[in-house]
Amino acid sequence: MHGGLILVTGSSGRIGKAVVAELTASGAAVRGFDRVATPGLADMIVGTLTSEADIAKAMRDVRTIIHLAATPDDADFLEEIVPNNIIGVYHIFEKAQRAGVKRMIVASSGQVVWYQRMTGPLPVGVDVQPTPRYWYAAAKMFLEAAGRSFAEKFGMEVIAVRLGWCPRTPEQVEEIRAEAWAQDVYLSPSDAGRFFACAVEATLPTKFNVVYATSKPKRAMYDLETTKRLIGFEPRESWPQGIEVVLGK
Ligand SMILES: NC(=O)c1ccc[n+]([C@@H]2O[C@H](COP(=O)([O-])OP(=O)(O)OC[C@H]3O[C@@H](n4cnc5c(N)ncnc54)[C@H](O)[C@@H]3O)[C@@H](O)[C@H]2O)c1
Repeated sequence: MHGGLILVTGSSGRIGKAVVAELTASGAAVRGFDRVATPGLADMIVGTLTSEADIAKAMRDVRTIIHLAATPDDADFLEEIVPNNIIGVYHIFEKAQRAGVKRMIVASSGQVVWYQRMTGPLPVGVDVQPTPRYWYAAAKMFLEAAGRSFAEKFGMEVIAVRLGWCPRTPEQVEEIRAEAWAQDVYLSPSDAGRFFACAVEATLPTKFNVVYATSKPKRAMYDLETTKRLIGFEPRESWPQGIEVVLGK
């Protein structure tokens, strides 16, 4: 593995657990960081994104960061989005740069191009003017902007991935089942795990890269060709493969 020690923030979450499973299966050295311990992960820092000390501790000897920890959808802006998705991003980038981290793979969202997804043209490209859905997506634009800045200013390698919909609950599975567009942006847990494993290994032509990640759609909502070219990731699953993980079957 090229990744050295990989820090996965949000390692106890829906996507984090899949990423940890994929990376550890491939023999990578993985450290988790979350508010709650990640089952089965020996190298684990339990802490919060709003604590500089917790984050500094998590950075030791890390070469690559997969930053997933966040409030994962719209929520109270001042109580949730600002501390977790704005201040947390600030601490993660600042501490990573000071600790000499080489590559940051950060979880953005398809919600940053929410309105094009409805109006087209499809598939939505990586270089279109974003149309954030609301505050959560606006904060993801802040994350992408921080990534761009750190790539230019400090030469860090940054991949901002606009993730499709990886359901966290059985209710979300039912929401996806009800909508064709949602099935076309569906991201299965194992495809999510594989995407991040590929992103650790990819040889990048530029310091800052924006890509999309979904499972195989019937009709492509997002540009997945750039993902294949830059990251070497091709999804293996399509809706509804992988929902058993969410439904606990
Ligand atoms: N699941 C999706 O459909 C989806 C789509 C687009 C983007 N994303 C992004 O992917 C990332 C992971 O999402 P997920 O679906 O796995 O969410 P999740 O809620 O299952 O996992 C997030 C994890 O982050 C941790 N966390 C949250 N705030 C924290 C804090 N202040 N300090 C430490 N840990 C904290 C939580 O404890 C949780 O384990 C998020 O950044 C989310 O915005 C997810």
